Amino acid sequence: MQLRAEFLWEKYSPYFPIGYAIGTENIDRYKGGIDRHFNSFTCENEMKMYTIAPHSPTQDNFAPSDNMVDYAVSQGKRVRGHTLIWYNGAPSWIAGCRDKQTLLRLIGDYVTRVVKHYGNKVYSWDVVNEAIGDDNRYRSAFYDVAGIDYIETAFCVARAANPHIRLFYNDYNLDKPQKRAKVIEMLRELQRDGVPVDGVGMQGHYNLKDTRISDVENAIREFSALGLEVQITELDVKNYGNTGARRQAELYGELFALFRKYADVITGVTLWNAADDYSWLDGDDFPHYGTGKAYPTLFDENHGRKEAFYKVFDF
Ligand code: XIL
Repeated sequence: MQLRAEFLWEKYSPYFPIGYAIGTENIDRYKGGIDRHFNSFTCENEMKMYTIAPHSPTQDNFAPSDNMVDYAVSQGKRVRGHTLIWYNGAPSWIAGCRDKQTLLRLIGDYVTRVVKHYGNKVYSWDVVNEAIGDDNRYRSAFYDVAGIDYIETAFCVARAANPHIRLFYNDYNLDKPQKRAKVIEMLRELQRDGVPVDGVGMQGHYNLKDTRISDVENAIREFSALGLEVQITELDVKNYGNTGARRQAELYGELFALFRKYADVITGVTLWNAADDYSWLDGDDFPHYGTGKAYPTLFDENHGRKEAFYKVFDF
């Protein structure tokens, strides 16, 4: 352990890399400032299918993410790829496909192309994102056409395209026992079929009302019992109106203490957005969470360290 770590990543270097996810429009906002706290980087939207190939399966709009990856690599950060196959925002050329063999071919071709494009600049990929819905069943979009084969194809093809990278299944609410049970059932099936899944990404969109440390701990234990590595891939703690800063700080502190306890299975923790001046949660898009500003990060609107930061940093 360093005696005088200045940045988060230094403090956490004995444990796991610390990452953040931002969009290309926010690179300059954090450059040379709080981005120095992070040694892992994720493109918020630029590696999604709706950015890379919005209109046709052979489109290659790699420029936005390429610039970001070059930036991250130049700063010595590792890059998590997010995400290859996601029902949400899937372009019509694939979302509209109703033939199983065609769908599997489209998925296979796309995954191969994208994984090969980034090569080893991306060390891990969220291969499939959010395959299980809030009703704890497979979401209909791709599943209705191809069953679990669409997931298997995506992982197998990604492994074949680059055997050196880590392949993750990524989802939210994995601290919730019922959804987790369904995801574990899916992961067991994938493992039985010999599908190359290396890890589970727990998104980690938490809140002050019903996030329980014991639930998060159970999730980490149950996923690692499958022989999988675990990453926290999209961590934030909603605090709409900034009315619960003290409780938010405590929860962040408890979460990171838990993550340190499981550092042998946790291979990365990524925060979703960098500071409270910009969050995907701001506004009225998720009225069931709250409205207005969400104040979900470790840094305030002026990029200063919040109480939550100190709870994570001082241990
Ligand atoms: C979000 C981005 O933050 C937004 O900018 C975008 O409009 C929608 O997607 N789970 C995920 C992420 O896996 O990709 C989502 O990111 C947040 C929820």
